Amino acid sequence: MKGIILAGGTGSRLYPLTAVLSKQLMPVYDKPMIYYPLATLMQAGIKDILIISTEQDLPSFKKLLNDGSQLGIKLSYQVQHEPKGLAHALIIAENFIKNDNFAMILGDNLFYGQTLPTNLLKAANRTSGCTIFGYHVAHPENYGVVEFDRAGIVKSIVEKPQQPKSHFAIPGIYFFDSQAVGFAKNVVLSERGELEIVDVLKQYLTKQELNVEIMGRGIAWLDTGTHADLLAASQFIETIDNRQGLKINCPEEQAFRNGWIDAAQLKAIAEPLMKSGYGAYLLNILQETDV
Ligand code: DAU
Repeated sequence: MKGIILAGGTGSRLYPLTAVLSKQLMPVYDKPMIYYPLATLMQAGIKDILIISTEQDLPSFKKLLNDGSQLGIKLSYQVQHEPKGLAHALIIAENFIKNDNFAMILGDNLFYGQTLPTNLLKAANRTSGCTIFGYHVAHPENYGVVEFDRAGIVKSIVEKPQQPKSHFAIPGIYFFDSQAVGFAKNVVLSERGELEIVDVLKQYLTKQELNVEIMGRGIAWLDTGTHADLLAASQFIETIDNRQGLKINCPEEQAFRNGWIDAAQLKAIAEPLMKSGYGAYLLNILQETDV
């Protein structure tokens, strides 16, 4: 299975923070935002990952993450010249996807929780169709929303409905088979001028190939859409990190725990970073193998 991280867009809701810096490179507490979705894909066992961003920002992502070999993964990069929507990104990723199944995650979505790996691995192990998640939120009108009937069967999917029919938002992680590219090509521009991902999902629904799994209370899905959301995400990550002494979505740690890099490689990453405390954390992992 392959992975795509969508790290383009305009980031306009975070202006002026985004005047010169890509949103997905901004810090969420102790790491650039893109580390979080990257570590989430790695948690799902995905090693072959395409990062899509703007012409202006892609060089910074490359500088930060290189070819991924330091994490035991393979990273490639592709420009999306205009933010024409999440479904548009599927079309430009066609040559990367080929006939493979893949997960697509939004570069500004953060996931954390004990049961997350179970959710991710179940979705990743499905060989056909599409799997998305339903997550209970207070303000579904800001998201794609999924409506269920009494038997739990999906009735409708709507992007940012003014009057949502449920509280279940669709988080920004999607597992697709290779039909997704063809479905994306059928999508027409929405009122906001984008090729909407919900219009791809609806085609899976029509074919009865859409699986919706509930992401339960034990999982935190954080959004970084507004200045307040960004601060709240940083505070959440800091709170857990301080209390447990365990980092959230640390790609270097994930690579080591997956067995994709060895102790010597982790040490080589950690040693130049001792001043920030990040390096000390990574070195400490080598002493403690039971968490
Ligand atoms: O966060 C989950 C929501 O993400 C879903 O519930 C919605 O169904 C989905 O449409 C999307 O909604 P947003 O309107 O919040 O997406 P946004 O424009 O904020 O873009 C999400 C990420 O994708 C962000 O990191 C920027 C990136 N992006 C966005 C667009 C439109 C791209 O890389 N290219 C694009 O063309």
